[in-house]
This record gives sequence, C-alpha cells and structure tokens, in this order.
Amino acid sequence: MDVGGGGGYFTSEFRRRGAQAYLFEPDIRELGEKPPEGAVIADGYLLPLSDGVADVTFSSNVLEHVADPETFLSELARVTRPGGLIYVSFTNWLSPWGGHEWAPWHYFGAERARARYRRRTGRSAKHTLGENLFAVHIGTTLRQVRARDDVTVVSARSRYWPFLAETVVKAPGIRELATWNLLLILRRCPP
Ligand SMILES: C[S@@+](CC[C@H](N)C(=O)[O-])C[C@H]1O[C@@H](n2cnc3c(N)ncnc32)[C@H](O)[C@@H]1O
Repeated sequence: MDVGGGGGYFTSEFRRRGAQAYLFEPDIRELGEKPPEGAVIADGYLLPLSDGVADVTFSSNVLEHVADPETFLSELARVTRPGGLIYVSFTNWLSPWGGHEWAPWHYFGAERARARYRRRTGRSAKHTLGENLFAVHIGTTLRQVRARDDVTVVSARSRYWPFLAETVVKAPGIRELATWNLLLILRRCPP
C-alpha cells in the first residue's frame, strides 16, 4: 500500500517489479493526469482497508505533511498484517531541505522564508507551516515509535546517505541537521 503516493510513480515501480501495489492519495491534484490504474482517493488517517491486509505499507515523504503523525502511523500499522513491514520516510524540519521549496531559508523562520520565495519567484509557495507542512523532528519521532506497542523498529537510518546511514541517526542534536531524511522500517507486532 503506497499511502500519500502522489502521482504514483512508486506504485508503478512496485508493480513493474511484480508486487500487487495500490495507491492511496487524498489530493486529486497530486494524482496528476495518469495515475496508476485503481488509484484510490483516500486519506491516510482513515484508509478504506480492513485490518492487516497489507504485507508492506509504504509512505514516502508524507509524515511531515500531516498534522498528527502518530495517528497517521497508527493507521499504517492497523492495515499492515502482523509480521508485515511499514516503510516511512520524511524530511525532518531541521534538515537542510526541511523548508521544502523555501529551504534552506526556513532556518531563519518559516514566514520570512515564504516571503522570500514569493519575492524571488513571483509565485506563492506551495507549503505553509502549520497548514500542509509541519515541523517533525527525528528525536521526538524515534521516541514516539519506540514507545509504541503495535510496531518494533527494524531500522532507523538516513534515507539518502550511502554510508553511515544508521550511525548518523544515533547522534542526538547532530542527527537533526545531518540525517536530511529519516527512513524508518517498522515491523507490525501481533495484536
Ligand atoms: C511530498 S508528497 C510525496 C509524494 C510521494 N509519496 C513521493 O515520495 O514522491 C506528499 C504527499 O502526501 C500527501 N498527503 C498529505 N496529507 C495526507 C494524508 N493525510 N494522508 C495521505 N496522504 C497525504 C499529499 O497529498 C502528497 O501527495
């Protein structure tokens, strides 16, 4: 299950590699002109799926776009079968890319960075902090997932670093700047 999959290019790639993959995306504009067949307009907080139907639940770069990441994760866990895997990655707020299209100016404040983007491009920025982009931190997220009883953490690593990907995540403080994008692989516990 590709949750918040945008135009569905991950879903298409999973299918190309033989998986039975399905796209769930709440925003019809993000689906684009040619979403994968059978794409479902659905919010990740409330997926139209029974408990435990998915072998793998996948969510790339969505967690920083939801106001309540813990509830979002609960729903991913609910639809994943016991023993199945949950892949969640997100760009944390203090990453050099944390401000998305107005990065790295978010380090000087979100409003200032948005205003700068508008001045420079003549367009309104897509993201507004507190509306469709949220300041998610690595330390807080790790504490929250480790405290859960519905999942165990298989791996917590930088998504893009080719080396020391797990090491960088172990350094409090530094990890908020250096990880860039946190990838969590979680295993669904038996109910
Ligand atoms: C940065 S895009 C990521 C798209 C794709 N997963 C990727 O990695 O390229 C963020 C996506 O999260 C989706 N999204 C935002 N809120 C969501 C929610 N509550 N449930 C599911 N998806 C959500 C957006 O509509 C958007 O498609």
